[in-house]
Amino acid sequence: MSTYSTARSAGHSGPAVAVLGLGPMGRALAGALLDAGLRTTVWNRTPGRDRELVARGAAGARSAAEAAAAADVTVVCVVNYDAVDAVLRPDGVTAALEGRTVLNLTADTPARARDTAAWAAAHGIRYLDGAIMTPAATIGTPDAVFLHSGPEGTYRDLLPVRDALGGTHTHLGEEPGRAAAFDIALLDVFWTAMAGWAHALAVARAEGVTARELAPFARGIGAVLPPVFEETARDVADGTYSGEGNPLTSAVSSMAHIVHVSESHGIDAGVMRAAEGMARRAIGLGHGTDGFVRVAEVIGRH
Ligand SMILES: NC(=O)c1ccc[n+]([C@@H]2O[C@H](COP(=O)([O-])OP(=O)(O)OC[C@H]3O[C@@H](n4cnc5c(N)ncnc54)[C@H](OP(=O)(O)O)[C@@H]3O)[C@@H](O)[C@H]2O)c1
Repeated sequence: MSTYSTARSAGHSGPAVAVLGLGPMGRALAGALLDAGLRTTVWNRTPGRDRELVARGAAGARSAAEAAAAADVTVVCVVNYDAVDAVLRPDGVTAALEGRTVLNLTADTPARARDTAAWAAAHGIRYLDGAIMTPAATIGTPDAVFLHSGPEGTYRDLLPVRDALGGTHTHLGEEPGRAAAFDIALLDVFWTAMAGWAHALAVARAEGVTARELAPFARGIGAVLPPVFEETARDVADGTYSGEGNPLTSAVSSMAHIVHVSESHGIDAGVMRAAEGMARRAIGLGHGTDGFVRVAEVIGRH
């Protein structure tokens, strides 16, 4: 039996949903809900961002409280949890949400996710925290990836909303900070890789190599990484950190070349210097024959 019954209207099946926050991601979420035939109410702090969605059949609310009152499930997707607090915590909105469900798809830290879950529990609001791991263009398609954490029952009851948003959804457990913890770790991989790519473009350019020339080979380097993630995860689990084939002593030599060429062109080598510094610290502690991922254990020591 569905938990949702308060806000249905004729012609729609499934829960009525409100989307608070109509940036690129909020608009994509609301669009997918509309495409799936769910009754959808939208609201954004700055007026006017709902026009296209209203033309497609969404109800435009004048306030966040009005949107929340029209829905069984309120999806909030704004820039960070300060913005979430600004949207959800005014008394009128909190009162409208009591007894209903909030799916928070905003990105922030695990601590903020736990704090928001505690606030929701204290106000009788069912709460699931989520992280979106793919760009707005994937929403409503099989390529979308969502991670969730919070009560299993709330996750289960959100099946019609999850189906409408498309892609794959993974419930990581009841501890509300888990989705944000995965998000932070995965964004760590993404942004350090992007910093490396931006730096590589600058160094390559200084050497007369264009971005277009480099890109196909960078794709090859990218393809090397997925099996390395799997293998080194096994190493971390076993505590082995095998350096067979590429010990830290060899890795630092390669990094030093990058720093040297970069600085010879007057290009900031901060990202690579940081990586080299971590590797040298591990070598200094006697781990020179280990693989690079020994660094994870070394920098985690307190
Ligand atoms: N875009 C993507 O491809 C993508 C992918 C994965 C995850 N995400 C996550 O999804 C969330 C939303 O991202 P986004 O791309 O839609 O754009 P965004 O720039 O991160 O957020 C824009 C939204 O936040 C609202 N906002 C900002 N401060 C506010 C405040 N104090 N009170 C109320 N609303 C406030 C904006 O309202 P106004 O219009 O009034 O400024 C707008 O609706 C973020 O946490 C982001 O990390 C986005």
